[in-house]
Amino acid sequence: MNETLERWSSRRAFILAVTGAAVGLGNIWRFPYMTGENGGAAFLLLYVVFVVLLGLPVMIAEILIGRAGRRSPMRSLGHLARQAGASPHWRWLGLFGVITVFFILSFYSVVSGWSIEYLVESVNGDFAGMAPQAVGANFNAFLADPLRMTFNHTLFMLLTMSVVAAGISGGLEKLNNLLMPLLYLLLIVLAGYATTTDGFGTAMAWLFTPDLAALSVSVMLNAMGHAFFTLAVGACALMAYGAYMPDDQSLPRAVGAVAVLDVAVALLSGIAIFSVVFSQGLDPGEGPGLMFVTLPIAFAELPGGSLWLGVFFLLLLLATWTSSINLAEPMVATLQGWGLKRGRAAACVGVAVWAVGLLSVFSFSSMAEVHWLGDMNFFDLVTTVPTDLFLPIGGLLIAIFAAWVMPRDTAELALGTGPAGFRSWQRLVRFVSIPLVVGVLVSGIW
Ligand code: PHE
Ligand code: NA
Repeated sequence: MNETLERWSSRRAFILAVTGAAVGLGNIWRFPYMTGENGGAAFLLLYVVFVVLLGLPVMIAEILIGRAGRRSPMRSLGHLARQAGASPHWRWLGLFGVITVFFILSFYSVVSGWSIEYLVESVNGDFAGMAPQAVGANFNAFLADPLRMTFNHTLFMLLTMSVVAAGISGGLEKLNNLLMPLLYLLLIVLAGYATTTDGFGTAMAWLFTPDLAALSVSVMLNAMGHAFFTLAVGACALMAYGAYMPDDQSLPRAVGAVAVLDVAVALLSGIAIFSVVFSQGLDPGEGPGLMFVTLPIAFAELPGGSLWLGVFFLLLLLATWTSSINLAEPMVATLQGWGLKRGRAAACVGVAVWAVGLLSVFSFSSMAEVHWLGDMNFFDLVTTVPTDLFLPIGGLLIAIFAAWVMPRDTAELALGTGPAGFRSWQRLVRFVSIPLVVGVLVSGIW
């Protein structure tokens, strides 16, 4: 009946896996540059509001479906739909999730490759004594070198798919749990150092004094997409993990702490990065390179900077590794559901995602001006449309399924809070989350 990976051995294992999926590039790389591109505090405020009103309730909905279905996402959805007497077509939502994670993983691997490059360069001492302007030039030189980028992207895909193929991500999650506190500590140290820089005051004002006039539909769309992305919600990836959740655990309690941690990591990273931006007179709207040009500058000011920069990128790599394993899971689980062996399924997924990832690699050199939609090159396209459109649409359908379609007693049992908790969650999803996603999506597409 349950054709995929091992079952989580304990409640802690489940929480570790969800934390591993959530904390990643979204917090440390994507959050700061999206905040920078969307004008600062207004984006941050919306993002937090969306995490609370959408991200968290829909995250619960998604895991709940997996937990009640105990199969791959497609099969869980089909099975529960049948049980509810609803259309079996609900299972296509699982395939929509597969498409979403496919494109997300294709760029996620490329950017994680940038971390590998920076890990090596830091350990080499390349950044020691490098002038701030030179750090930016160094990053651009790397982007212009598709061969080096392909090498790192390949390495990262191999790392990810070998763990997925072996179905041993549990070990990695335990390692992560052991080492992530050090990443958080480094971020706290960086944020502490940031308070001593000239740019700190400006950064704080810029991050925390929302100018409501800066709120626009596109800022709303971006903030909503990011709230889903950072919590790993909307692509049936957590649904695949929910299938292995033990029976005797309250779902909201398990994931509430993950969301708090996820936001905290993003905020620390934002404070550290924007203090450097304003101290050095850099452009907050610099884009996807923001982290890679600010952090070497920040670490250079600390004693033993090169070493700690290396440690930082190593830990970031671990964090992205567990996220990419989660991104791969719905694809591999679906292929397994179609009868492929796990190893073979992982190989197919790995090769296909790797190949599409090359389009992102070349988006920084020969294909920079190849526009796929509007003025977006491939990298621009895959870093926005799957996140800002597919995740919210997937999340919306997940929410509708869990709060309106699923048989109430099945859903209540899978939530694990008892009837009163279930009623509050269901009301929140029905009357707040669903209308909110619809409202933002409709005004966005308008
Ligand atoms: N949440 C991950 C991050 O913040 C990215 C992710 C998105 C993982 C969707 C799984 C599914 O980096
Ligand atoms: Na995240």
